[in-house]
Amino acid sequence: MTALADLADVGRDSRRGGYSRHGFDRADAELRTWFTEQAVRRGLDVHTDRNGNLWAWWGRPGPNAVLTGSHLDSVPGGGAFDGPLGVVSALEAVSLLQHNGFRPSRPLAVVVFCEEEGGRFGVPCLGSRLMTGALSPDAARRLVDADGIILAEAARSAGIDPAGFGPDPALADVGCFVELHVEQGRLLGDHPVAVASSILAHGRWRFTVTGEGNHAGTTEVADRRDPMLPAAAAVLAARAAVVGRPASRATVGRLTPIPGGTNVIASSVDFWLDARGPDTAAVIDDITAAVRDAATAEGCSVAVREESYGNEVRFDPALRDQVATLLGDVPHVPTGAGHDAGILAGVVPTAMLFVRNPTGISHAPAEHAEPADCAAGTAALAAVLESWCR
Ligand code: HGY
Ligand code: MN
Ligand code: MN
Repeated sequence: MTALADLADVGRDSRRGGYSRHGFDRADAELRTWFTEQAVRRGLDVHTDRNGNLWAWWGRPGPNAVLTGSHLDSVPGGGAFDGPLGVVSALEAVSLLQHNGFRPSRPLAVVVFCEEEGGRFGVPCLGSRLMTGALSPDAARRLVDADGIILAEAARSAGIDPAGFGPDPALADVGCFVELHVEQGRLLGDHPVAVASSILAHGRWRFTVTGEGNHAGTTEVADRRDPMLPAAAAVLAARAAVVGRPASRATVGRLTPIPGGTNVIASSVDFWLDARGPDTAAVIDDITAAVRDAATAEGCSVAVREESYGNEVRFDPALRDQVATLLGDVPHVPTGAGHDAGILAGVVPTAMLFVRNPTGISHAPAEHAEPADCAAGTAALAAVLESWCR
C-alpha cells in the first residue's frame, strides 16, 4: 500500500485530527494530481468528466467497460482509509494484473468520484449522483459550503465548467462496477475480505430553529427564546427515536448556533440530522415532533429541509454470489454506510468488496486496515477484474 502512504500528509487536519479533504478544495487538487501521476505511471489514460469525476482508462474507452474505484475525499477529521483504500487498491490491482501479463478483453477504468462524503456541499455521492441523473444539475450548482461559496464557483476554480454538470452518456458504456472499501464496522470478524449485500436507506435533513438573540447575563429565563433548547431536544430525540428500532440510526453530528458567542443567546441554530434504516420516515417524524414541541414551548420557529435521501440498496445477487464464490465463499455483509456503489447500483450491475477494519471505527482518525488485509483486498479485486475482463 505504498501509494496509500503517499497520501499520509495530504489534507491533514491539525485541529480535528485525521483528514479533511473536500470537493474542489486544496487537498482535492493535490489528490487529483497524485491520482493522475499514479494512473499515467501504469499507462492509463486519464480524463475528468463533466461532473468532476476522474477516469483512468486501461485500453480505449468503449462499450461493456468494467469500472472500479471509489473516492478520495473525506468527512471533516476523517480516517485515512475511507475512500482512498478503494482507489489505491484499484490502481494496485491494475499493477498486479499488468505484472502477471494480463491484458483485459474489455475496456477497464479506474474512477475517482468527487465529493462522495458531501463534506463541503452537503450532498453525499455528488459526483456519482450527477453522473447518473440522481441529482439535478441546477440544484447542484446552487449548493453552498459553510463559507458561502457555491458549488458552481468551486468547480469552476478547479477547472470544471459547472454548465456541463449532468447525466453522463459515457455511463452507457459501463457494463459493471465494483468498489472496494474499508469496512466501517466490525462485521468481517475472521475474514480479511467480504462482499457487500446491501446498504441501509439513509438521508440528511437540515433543521433551522429561530429564536431571539440576546444577552446571556441580562435576559431573564421568562424573556428568553433560545433556539438551543429545541436543538438539544433534537439530539436527545434522535437517540430516543431509535431505541426499539435496532436497524435504525439517527445522529446529530453538526450544529451551528448563530452568532456562536459564549455570552450570547443564539438567534438561530442550524443542525443536521443523519437518519438511516428501514424506519427512517417514522424516526424523522418522531424527532421533528420533539423539536416542534420544544420550539413551541420556547417561542421559537422551526424549518426542516430534506437535503438528500437514498432508499435501501440491495446489490445484484448474481454478481454478489459470483464474486463471493470467486473469492472462496467470503461472507456477504450489509453496511450502514453509503457509497458511490450504492448510486451506481441503480444503473449498472454493481458489487462491493470490504476489507476488514479491526478497530470497527470509521469517519475518525482511528479508522484502520492492516497491510496484510489491504493486500488481500487488492488481490481479491484483481481476481474480480480479471474474471470480468477475461
Ligand atoms: O455517510 C456515509 O455513509 C458515507 O460515508 N458517505
Ligand atoms: Mn465515509
Ligand atoms: Mn466512503
